[in-house]
Amino acid sequence: MNFLLKEFYDVFTDNGREVRAFFSPGRVNLIGEHTDYNGGYVFPVGLNVGTTVLIRKRDDKKVLLYATDIKKVVEASLDDLESYKDIEWGNYQLGVIHELLKAGYNVGGCEMLFCDTVPHGAGLSSSAAIECATGIAVYSMFNDKPIDKVELAFIGQRAENKYIGVNCGIMDQFASSMARKDHGLFLNTMTMEYKYVPLNLGDYRILISNTNKKRGLADSKYNERRSQCEEGLQALKKALDVKCLGEVSVEEFEKHKYLIEDDIVRKRVEHVVYEDERVLSSIDVLEKGDLKSFGRLMTQSHESLRDLYEVTGVELDTLVEEALKIEGVLGSRMTGAGFGGCTVTIIHRANIEEFKTKVGENYTRKTGLKADFYVFEVGDGVREINL
Ligand code: GLA
Repeated sequence: MNFLLKEFYDVFTDNGREVRAFFSPGRVNLIGEHTDYNGGYVFPVGLNVGTTVLIRKRDDKKVLLYATDIKKVVEASLDDLESYKDIEWGNYQLGVIHELLKAGYNVGGCEMLFCDTVPHGAGLSSSAAIECATGIAVYSMFNDKPIDKVELAFIGQRAENKYIGVNCGIMDQFASSMARKDHGLFLNTMTMEYKYVPLNLGDYRILISNTNKKRGLADSKYNERRSQCEEGLQALKKALDVKCLGEVSVEEFEKHKYLIEDDIVRKRVEHVVYEDERVLSSIDVLEKGDLKSFGRLMTQSHESLRDLYEVTGVELDTLVEEALKIEGVLGSRMTGAGFGGCTVTIIHRANIEEFKTKVGENYTRKTGLKADFYVFEVGDGVREINL
């Protein structure tokens, strides 16, 4: 018997009813950072690690949640879903169920087991994986039509924005829901148009390095960046007919940037506008099979996040600086919100061991922290799986 099904029966007993299983991945964003709440472009990939959920219907209105790493059952009632926002664990799941209900879908009582393989708090979207896995599992048990995966991403985002209170953009949930094996997901967050771009990496690999830095004030700094972008947009609107920074071209920005009086706000906007341009160039060079140029764009993205958007910090900067010293590295940058979390590096597979040793040692010497390294595969988005 599948080991997760065995654990499910250990916790909830085997009552003969059907148990189904679903999976949703974590993601790593290759380029296009802090653009998704500005109507800009992003280019994430899904990973082959994520959240697996096993689910079974109940006859009452109770929702029982259990996680393989926490080993305790959280019980909630569908009648008062508003009241679990601050519980220690289970609020992401209950927020999604709440949003499913509000959107008018059928929802019923159920038992769920969660098993996560995405490192938590590392900026690899373990939350989006939980949200999308919960969404598809509960939806699929109580509704006949297959779920619209874009709608699923929005439900996850709304749960995070409204229930959890984290003001994130759409990238993470969209990637977790819509990712495709061996492809990058190029998304225009203003129009929600998207395209799958094949990642022909050949002998190169996506290597993720975790700073293992606790991200203290990350949420408040994230929100501060969002309002600075808003302020910059308002200033540019005096001359430009635009709804978001994603609509502002590099030329328009250069011509009208004098309208943004605050130096810091101007730097934030400069990052967003040029980052969008870098995403477009990335798609272009990748479609031509030019990985080297893609790597250079990734490194430029990091420099901009460090110098203009100021969301890196000594840990992320050290990992990138050390990465770029290793042979076979085409590019390296922070990924996700920043202030800690992970970097993503494109590296020749022959140099991975050397990378782990040298970057690991130098990182510890300079920061006193120990980094973790992962080489994940690029995997598919949310789906039902066989038990
Ligand atoms: C976090 C958010 C995303 C996005 C990134 C920065 O991961 O959840 O929506 O804004 O930060 O690119």
